[in-house]
Amino acid sequence: MHLPEPVSLTDGRLLLRLPDERDVDPITAACQDPDLARWVPVPVPYNTSHARDFVGSRRDRWGAEDGEMTFAVTDAGNGSLLAMVGLHARDASMREIGFWTAPWARRRGVMTDAGRLVCRFGFEVLALGRIEWWAGVGNDASWRVAEKLGFRREGTCRARLLHRGDRLDGWVAGLLPGELR
Ligand SMILES: CC(C)(COP(=O)(O)OP(=O)(O)OC[C@H]1O[C@@H](n2cnc3c(N)ncnc32)[C@H](O)[C@@H]1OP(=O)(O)O)[C@@H](O)C(=O)NCCC(=O)NCCS
Repeated sequence: MHLPEPVSLTDGRLLLRLPDERDVDPITAACQDPDLARWVPVPVPYNTSHARDFVGSRRDRWGAEDGEMTFAVTDAGNGSLLAMVGLHARDASMREIGFWTAPWARRRGVMTDAGRLVCRFGFEVLALGRIEWWAGVGNDASWRVAEKLGFRREGTCRARLLHRGDRLDGWVAGLLPGELR
């Protein structure tokens, strides 16, 4: 389904909305984290101009056929940035989920709850037939989030992921309508 205008999602604790200028400094701070850079192909070193380009491109990327619906995950109470999650279009009814949580917000269930909101949106609003998850082999934290959402691990693909010029083995998992937990 084509959805040209960005939407916000909330469960009361978290508010997910289009990233904007407010997020430039916290995104820049989060992307200094070596654990994030190990698994997510952000530029290294990461500076504010990277974050500014990133937030500046989100609205156009939202509705593009091969685009990405990106959500800044914020604290619904005080507005602070906690994480980022996106649904990247792969074909007309399949998208790939990608995410990171800022180091200061980890292990509080943020990505489990944000991922649930985004996957529900994917099935109920976008009418997706499959949401796919990919991670480098060994990214146990990312897998734990996916597993809690109901994703089923389907295999390991050799040299599947391109990460800063290196080809890494990747885990793949899928979530179909009715499987979200
Ligand atoms: C993966 C990541 C997004 C998890 O975010 P989070 O908001 O901390 O996740 P949650 O708090 O919702 O935790 C979900 C589950 O994962 C577990 N978990 C979180 N971090 C973990 C870690 N480092 N090692 C093992 N388990 C971990 C939690 O304990 C929880 O499981 P439980 O309920 O059984 O205890 C975060 O660690 C991160 O940003 N990592 C770096 C970037 C990255 O790898 N992104 C994914 C690329 S595919």
